[in-house]
Amino acid sequence: MFRYAVFAFAFGCVIHMSRGTEVTVKDKDDKLCLYANLMVNFSVSYMTSDNKSELAEFELPAEVSSNGSICDATSSTLKLSFGAGHSWSVNFTAGENTYQSDVNTFSYNLSDSTVFPKSALNDTLSVTVRPHISDISMDTCYSCQSKDTIQSDTVNQTLWDVRIQAFIKNGTQSENLTTCAADLPIPTTVAPVTNTTAITLAPTTTLAPTTTPAPTLPTPGTGKFSIKSGENGTACLLANFALRIGVKQGEKYQEINLDPNVTTVSGVCGVNMSALVLESNAMTVALTFTNNTKKFHLQTMNVTAKLSSGEVFSAVNSSLSLWEAALGSSYMCNKEQNYSITSQLNIFTFNLQVQPFAVKKGLFSTAEECFLDSDLSFLVPIAVGVALSFLIVLVLLSYLIGRRKSRTGYQSV
Ligand SMILES: *[C@@H]1O[C@H](CO)[C@@H](O)[C@H](O)[C@H]1NC(C)=O
Ligand SMILES: *[C@@H]1O[C@H](CO)[C@@H](O)[C@H](O)[C@H]1NC(C)=O
Ligand SMILES: *[C@@H]1O[C@H](CO)[C@@H](O)[C@H](O)[C@H]1NC(C)=O
Ligand SMILES: *[C@@H]1O[C@H](CO)[C@@H](O)[C@H](O)[C@H]1NC(C)=O
Ligand SMILES: *[C@@H]1O[C@H](CO)[C@@H](O)[C@H](O)[C@H]1NC(C)=O
Ligand SMILES: *[C@@H]1O[C@H](CO)[C@@H](O)[C@H](O)[C@H]1NC(C)=O
Ligand SMILES: *[C@@H]1O[C@H](CO)[C@@H](O)[C@H](O)[C@H]1NC(C)=O
Ligand SMILES: *[C@@H]1O[C@H](CO)[C@@H](O)[C@H](O)[C@H]1NC(C)=O
Ligand SMILES: *[C@@H]1O[C@H](CO)[C@@H](O)[C@H](O)[C@H]1NC(C)=O
Ligand SMILES: *[C@@H]1O[C@H](CO)[C@@H](O)[C@H](O)[C@H]1NC(C)=O
Ligand SMILES: *[C@@H]1O[C@H](CO)[C@@H](O)[C@H](O)[C@H]1NC(C)=O
Ligand SMILES: *[C@@H]1O[C@H](CO)[C@@H](O)[C@H](O)[C@H]1NC(C)=O
Repeated sequence: MFRYAVFAFAFGCVIHMSRGTEVTVKDKDDKLCLYANLMVNFSVSYMTSDNKSELAEFELPAEVSSNGSICDATSSTLKLSFGAGHSWSVNFTAGENTYQSDVNTFSYNLSDSTVFPKSALNDTLSVTVRPHISDISMDTCYSCQSKDTIQSDTVNQTLWDVRIQAFIKNGTQSENLTTCAADLPIPTTVAPVTNTTAITLAPTTTLAPTTTPAPTLPTPGTGKFSIKSGENGTACLLANFALRIGVKQGEKYQEINLDPNVTTVSGVCGVNMSALVLESNAMTVALTFTNNTKKFHLQTMNVTAKLSSGEVFSAVNSSLSLWEAALGSSYMCNKEQNYSITSQLNIFTFNLQVQPFAVKKGLFSTAEECFLDSDLSFLVPIAVGVALSFLIVLVLLSYLIGRRKSRTGYQSV
């Protein structure tokens, strides 16, 4: 499970989900300082008076009291009390650039016979666990729609549709989100190439089918993309490149540049896998990198693009092995490279340098350059020439040998 948070831009903290439990906390100046909207399911095992183990399953109700919640400069507590003496609370601590939750305490009153019928005990018990809520960028709202289950011996809590912002500045909620890794649109399984096209065939009139040559685009701008993680927000994934995609659909071919100026970056750094998601007006490109102990490579590329026809094109290849370099170094290719990702999708990269793992101090490590960049690539034409000459010599030799043989044959008659 990924523990790193992710930086994404979205439409803000406030979404009025009618079903979630929504609470606000105000500070001593009566300004909004903490906001939460979330769903929690509890599953509690307890003993009954006839010595049986029972499971009580219930939801965090919409009606809760936030009495006991407090906001401070560097630590805050959200406490939600409900029912007959049950409560759920999380603390938040602020670091320099991020905040996180370290402790979650759930208390339940076993004398509440509506929830715990025939409980052998009548005490209020509590469990303390560590929630998976960390590395939230300061001044952003933590968002996690995916289900996250926190287990302990007697209690399982499932959280989902979570939106929480602690340390709200000036009473105004942020418009920016830190999205949990589980919510990211990262392909994790091999999927067939989606072919969404309904290609218009050549018109039935006498007009020849126009194979309009794609207009040549200017070289795309080079983007400097990075994913930050960790308490101090240092980069854990670096990627600099300019990208153009080429989409082939039957007769039609279209190229689109990625404009780094309007691209939002998100992603996640993992041990065995890291991901980078670039989202611009024209396209969404999701890249995943794999660490196979000694080397890394680009494993998956998922491109969704809006074509000039208004059609949405999408292609995925999850079995790539591009951009390979040793772990602890970066992969670099300054020259233009083109790759065929699927039969319909080509990509062109320029000024490429990527390091998806083991980034130190936010800087690229030693680069392993691609063959095109290397001093040896000039050898290719030479090698081809040598091979060709060799072939010519071979043909000549066999001709001569053949002639000698046939002459011998002729003489012996
Ligand atoms: C309940 O279980 C305990 C051990 O877990 C046992 O000592 C006790 O006799 C049991 N009581 C009944 C009523 O079954
Ligand atoms: C939460 O609990 C309710 C009722 O106990 C159940 O209907 C619902 O499916 C549960 N949701 C999840 C995500 O477990
Ligand atoms: C626990 O539940 C019982 C029964 O509903 C109630 O009388 C008692 O006050 C509750 N305990 C707390 C601490 O609220
Ligand atoms: C709790 O249980 C104990 C014995 O199990 C009993 O003596 C006590 O009166 C109970 N308390 C409440 C509030 O029900
Ligand atoms: C918690 O979840 C685990 C795995 O699904 C399950 O084995 C366990 O019984 C659950 N415990 C409770 C108290 O629901
Ligand atoms: C959201 O993030 C962007 C880029 O990091 C920043 O320019 C903007 O001020 C942020 N907005 C809010 C409301 O924090
Ligand atoms: C590719 O990305 C799109 C969103 O950009 C997503 O809907 C789709 O499921 C992804 N494909 C795969 C195979 O993960
Ligand atoms: C974060 O910064 C503190 C001091 O500024 C340092 O002690 C700590 O090691 C840093 N943590 C990481 C993960 O770089
Ligand atoms: C992107 O921004 C850079 C500098 O901020 C500028 O030079 C460049 O023209 C911009 N590119 C586009 C396509 O807007
Ligand atoms: C790469 O994977 C190996 C094996 O899973 C792991 O030991 C190593 O720490 C990983 N390297 C990085 C930089 O995450
Ligand atoms: C990484 O892969 C190795 C084996 O390839 C595995 O043992 C390890 O648990 C994986 N680590 C994570 C964080 O998935
Ligand atoms: C792709 O690159 C090769 C050289 O590696 C070049 O011959 C070819 O013309 C390129 N294709 C396109 C469409 O630019």
